[in-house]
Amino acid sequence: MKCKTILKALYLIILIFFFGGFIFTGNSRENNKSSSAIEQKVADLISQMTLEEKIGQMTQVDYNAIKDNPENISKYFIGSILWGGDSEPPKVDPQTWLKISDGFRKYAAQTRLKIPLILGIDAVHGHNNVDGATIFPHNIGLGATRNAKLIEKIGRATAEEISVTGIDWSFAPCIAVARNERWGRTYESFGEDPELVKTLGSAFIKGLQGNRYNDKTSVLACAKHFLGDGGTQGGVDQGNTECSKDELFAIHMPGYVDAIKSGTGSIMISYSSWNGVKMHGNKYLITDVLKSELGFKGFVVSDWAAIDQLGSDYKEDIEKAVNAGLDMIMIPNKPGQKNNYIQFVELLKELVNEGKVPISRIDDAVSRILKIKYEFGLFDRSYTEKEPLKNFGSKKHREIARDAVRQSLVLLKNEGKILPLSKSLKRIHVAGAGADNIGMQCGGWTITWQGKSGNIISGGTTILQAIKNTVSKRTNVTYSADGTNAEGADIAVVVVGEEPYAEMVGDRKDLHLSDNDINTINNVKSSGVPFLVVLLSGRPMIITDEILKSNAFIAAWLPGTEGQGVADVLFGDYKPTGKLPCSWPKSMDQIPINIGDKNYEPLFPYGFGLSY
Ligand code: BGC
Ligand code: BGC
Repeated sequence: MKCKTILKALYLIILIFFFGGFIFTGNSRENNKSSSAIEQKVADLISQMTLEEKIGQMTQVDYNAIKDNPENISKYFIGSILWGGDSEPPKVDPQTWLKISDGFRKYAAQTRLKIPLILGIDAVHGHNNVDGATIFPHNIGLGATRNAKLIEKIGRATAEEISVTGIDWSFAPCIAVARNERWGRTYESFGEDPELVKTLGSAFIKGLQGNRYNDKTSVLACAKHFLGDGGTQGGVDQGNTECSKDELFAIHMPGYVDAIKSGTGSIMISYSSWNGVKMHGNKYLITDVLKSELGFKGFVVSDWAAIDQLGSDYKEDIEKAVNAGLDMIMIPNKPGQKNNYIQFVELLKELVNEGKVPISRIDDAVSRILKIKYEFGLFDRSYTEKEPLKNFGSKKHREIARDAVRQSLVLLKNEGKILPLSKSLKRIHVAGAGADNIGMQCGGWTITWQGKSGNIISGGTTILQAIKNTVSKRTNVTYSADGTNAEGADIAVVVVGEEPYAEMVGDRKDLHLSDNDINTINNVKSSGVPFLVVLLSGRPMIITDEILKSNAFIAAWLPGTEGQGVADVLFGDYKPTGKLPCSWPKSMDQIPINIGDKNYEPLFPYGFGLSY
């Protein structure tokens, strides 16, 4: 009897093994077949290409630099166009964007080999430069959710919105591990912990790229910025990360290892330096480590005019960058100049002819780019095809964003269990510069590069509106930006925080609340009405005094367009579940402060978050 059961079990195991193995080899055979078919196509194409055609593939031109001469796409065999943060078309609606994308593709289709363009944009929290898009919380808020499945969904929804505007590629996710809150890009990071960044970064990549790369809604991801962007001294943007190789690899590398495993097709190099050496010229890290040791088979793109910073001579910059392993160079016009990309094309051609850049390096770069263009089905996507725009800013996508907002809120204080609020209070007074302000909710990289306070994007809900939507008909919701006139209310909700900013501009020496915000809080405090603060910010701020004054405090990060998610939690339809993605300092002189530090006494530790 016993023997029979054992035999039965054995049989079952063999069966599973046999079929499992069969299925497995079947799958990998399929994959190998298609990947070797692509390799063959790439090799065929390379063998037909002139040097000019190859260099064109390595050239990525900013929209503003090419919009007046799109025929140069054909003339110089340009391989890629991007829209920089401020390089928007005359109208920023999805239809105009689609028309312009399609228009560019025609010029590539007129070239001898008809190699399609790849069009890129920074869709870093939704398709954020396009009016009416669903704007998701910035990465720092997503870090607080700890929810990889949700992040994958957000990636997918974002890809759906990107693809209907004719764009193929997003410069996302930023997998920086932000180690210093002074850094103005802290909000682009999922947090200070490499493990968290790694998990959420991979999920985002899977979401953007989808299961089948050649699906119409699959969008090429770009893990950025390699390497050490979040570790610079003093949190200075584009600064210098000073640390040993062990530390660099332990903190800043894990995200890339997983990004490669998750199939990211592109990686962007960081403006920053490692121990004084600019990353854009670091052959060891780009070629030896990223491409050889880690086996990255996609292509490497430069950051915006970043190779220009390598030295004083542009030709030498190009030589250094391409020989270091950069495959595609991102080229805007320098301020006051024109056609910088033509200069790039000509100089790189000279460098190859002079033997300073080996043709094998050019072939490697172009092969990587073509491989991705094949894998993502760009050769088969017809530029005239009109995708339905119904998914754009759709209810379905906004629901995902709203859910992300709920899950991103971190409850820091809830004295006397003042939260959740009742929906049938007599009067709620709402106050603060951020209460009725979609622009502040969204932060930087929204419609414009630096973002803007106020009513900057259509669709979405401000927190004030969300509160009004949620309470009973009998509840009187009053509002004052400066916190005056709260007297007599049952409760006050104060929404304050940072004005929008992006890279460079957002670096700060002082992260205290503004005088304006402190006044608002003081005005409400002096009314004697109990109050809670909702903080809109891209990073922890110094709130040590304000947290004492208030009855409850919520870190809402930069939640995006769906302010309703905030009200969902305030009124108890959902419990707060967010956990701090970074340590919260007590004072400026504690910064940088990170989990694992020797003397670790933050105001709130990494992972902190209350609930009801
Ligand atoms: C930023 C990148 C961005 C690129 C294109 C650069 O200034 O550092 O993150 O992808 O511009 O807009
Ligand atoms: C562009 C951004 C870019 C930045 C870098 C801006 O003008 O719009 O995309 O990241 O310059 O300097």
